[in-house]
Amino acid sequence: MAVERTLSIIKPDAVADNVIGKIYTRFEDAGLKVVAAKMMLLSEEKAGGFYAEHKERPFFSELVEFMTSGPVLVQVLEGEGAIAQNRDIMGATNPADAAPGTIRADFAKEVSRNAVHGSDSAASAAREISYFFSESEIFSR
Ligand code: TYD
Ligand code: MG
Repeated sequence: MAVERTLSIIKPDAVADNVIGKIYTRFEDAGLKVVAAKMMLLSEEKAGGFYAEHKERPFFSELVEFMTSGPVLVQVLEGEGAIAQNRDIMGATNPADAAPGTIRADFAKEVSRNAVHGSDSAASAAREISYFFSESEIFSR
């Protein structure tokens, strides 16, 4: 399988719950390397642009409000099949449906506050990585 990069966000709920380290351990135990990272407070414009594909969905305004409610930690993960691997360890969007042992099952309480984001395809990974990072800020190893 090819080495890939994917965009991950530890969302405001998980940052507030002080589980950044526990979530990073999940990445590392799954063979994913953190090759870029930054903490930031997203503006409404930045969060809305990131989730532009969901603009017409009923949950969009609540999603933007949540994503701007506190700092997030944004990172690029790199590894074999990183995009699908990260989605696997994240678990289902709704933590109620997430398999035991996944990040969302263990650290999220509801679908609208679900601890982590992960790119869902190679095309989204490319768009989302360049939305937050320039190539000079990514340290492949
Ligand atoms: P989506 O891209 O469908 O999920 P995922 O994060 O697993 O790729 O939706 C983006 C985010 O929107 C999701 O993480 C949480 C929020 N959301 C809701 O608040 N309610 C919903 O019913 C859905 C589908 C998503
Ligand atoms: Mg998605």
